[in-house]
Amino acid sequence: MVRFLSPVSRRTKERAEVCPVDEFAAGTARSVVLGEQAALVIRLPDGSFRAYIALCTHLQCVVGYSAENNRIECRCHEGVYSVEGANVSGPPPRPLAALKVTIESGVVVVSEG
Ligand code: FES
Repeated sequence: MVRFLSPVSRRTKERAEVCPVDEFAAGTARSVVLGEQAALVIRLPDGSFRAYIALCTHLQCVVGYSAENNRIECRCHEGVYSVEGANVSGPPPRPLAALKVTIESGVVVVSEG
């Protein structure tokens, strides 16, 4: 009866190892699978990390990091996001879904927030 009134979520947060931090060059990005979704992990030129679900918020095309423009781009309809995940031009109606990046024993790990 108590369980019925306050159901316990058994879903665990997804996490994925990306690579050793010293192998992840600044100004590059990697793609990993997080659960059943694609994730885009970016190491910015200043060495910090950002990560997002790699699906465009317009029609779900896979987005990619443009080091040349230091932004995230969707080639389906020329949608553009900032490296902070904000939708800045084109048809995307919302920011990208952000993920958490941690360094665990020298390895970059991405996970749901
Ligand atoms: S699916 Fe990305 S801009 Fe349309």
